[in-house]
Amino acid sequence: MLERFGVSIEKKILERFDAYIKKHGYQNRSEALRDLMRDKFVEEEWKEEGGEAVATLTLVYNHSARQLSEKLTDLQHEYGALIISTLHVHLNHHDCLEVLVMKGPTKDIKQAASYLLATKGVKHGKLVKTGKELI
Ligand code: NI
Repeated sequence: MLERFGVSIEKKILERFDAYIKKHGYQNRSEALRDLMRDKFVEEEWKEEGGEAVATLTLVYNHSARQLSEKLTDLQHEYGALIISTLHVHLNHHDCLEVLVMKGPTKDIKQAASYLLATKGVKHGKLVKTGKELI
């Protein structure tokens, strides 16, 4: 169900918001505001103690680096309960790209992501945090 509400706001902020909307291709202010609110809610969920969420972790690594593939696989088995799906792409002769979909306690996801990203030989990566019950 949709509810309408009025907002009083400084002209300069609204102008900047409209420029943001245009730049990002939103059809109207309502849709942009909904997305900004959801993004903030997700951010809050990740800060809460004992929260649960979903995330994707992207990793790029050189598979020929010494024992790296084994180390990453060992870590993934250690956090097996968190990882619900993985995608592996052989990027070129040396590099692999992996995307792990994780679901569970935010604390555990952050810890697993930190260990995986900090593993020697991982060239780049990023954790994208989202919510499991977005409204
Ligand atoms: Ni590969």
